[in-house]
Amino acid sequence: MEYFKIAEADILKPGEMKRFSVHNKTVLLANVDGVFYALDNKCPHMGGSLADGDLEGATITCPRHGAKFDVRTGKSVGNAKLAFVSVKVNDAKALPVKVEGTEVFVELA
Ligand code: FES
Repeated sequence: MEYFKIAEADILKPGEMKRFSVHNKTVLLANVDGVFYALDNKCPHMGGSLADGDLEGATITCPRHGAKFDVRTGKSVGNAKLAFVSVKVNDAKALPVKVEGTEVFVELA
């Protein structure tokens, strides 16, 4: 396990999220009330790009089928919907984040 720099801390305001490429991985970084959280950007349902979804408070909605995740933990908090069928989705992969000075780092396996 190793931390990699992902961005400068001023790149995201509270309520914003963005996708970054770090060490051959695509990572979603979100700022929730001034605290940074990171997830593997790939939705565990069918690989949708979570960074292209919506962030409301700490909840991310996948743009493909509407599954919801708590960005702080990766926990699934809302099912995907496929043609009126509600489908339970696994948790997203949360990645540890640390801030040092003005830089944000994410831990990758
Ligand atoms: S790919 Fe994300 S909900 Fe289906």
